[in-house]
Amino acid sequence: MSERAGNLNLGALAFDAYGTLFDVHSVVAACEAAFPSRGAALSRLWRDKQLEYSWLLSLMDRYEDFWAVTEKALRYACQHLGLACDAATHTRLLESYYHLAAYPEVPAALARLAVNRRLVIISNGTPQMLAAVTQATGLTAVFDELISVEAVGVYKPSPRVYALLPQRLGMPTEAIGFVSSNAFDITGAKAFGLRTYWVNRQDATPDGLGYPPDIVVRTLTELADRLDAEEA
Ligand code: LAC
Repeated sequence: MSERAGNLNLGALAFDAYGTLFDVHSVVAACEAAFPSRGAALSRLWRDKQLEYSWLLSLMDRYEDFWAVTEKALRYACQHLGLACDAATHTRLLESYYHLAAYPEVPAALARLAVNRRLVIISNGTPQMLAAVTQATGLTAVFDELISVEAVGVYKPSPRVYALLPQRLGMPTEAIGFVSSNAFDITGAKAFGLRTYWVNRQDATPDGLGYPPDIVVRTLTELADRLDAEEA
């Protein structure tokens, strides 16, 4: 790829959490154990509905926290797929969000990216969800701050969310790089004015709204390689 990051004076990198650092589909095994041969379908619909609910609540101006959104999305997905989910299974599946797996390259890549830069998470997740999953994956120490949308009571891609970054980091927007695998999140962050690095893990089609990412990579290792090369 030939696009450049515009990487000079990059003071901080802000990471999306779910889908970027942590694999939301690491719940497939737990879903499969509860509902044999339906695990992948349940996991996919659960995630899709979770995001849809976050957008609906934001447009409706009816914020509910991401734990509630995730819970209601799981309930919807089971109902839609005709899966009878008892209370214990429901709780077990939901609580898997506290210990999702990190993608395999994440710990080593973050250690590289943290050299000379501040790293933060900015996510739809509640403070409790973010603290739990970073602790479960051994990533607590690499981040300066775990920033939750709860501070503004609206979900991504509202500009009020991305505005938390210059506020909390005390840096100009242009000095902050934003990293996400979620295309809608990249579109929103770019529209706000952040430099955007899309981790296109699933070979997704880029959004065509006119806010393209500054860099496209497949993994965080590739992002570290690109940023190292630009700074060399
Ligand atoms: C997050 C959602 C977008 O972590 O995955 O904010």
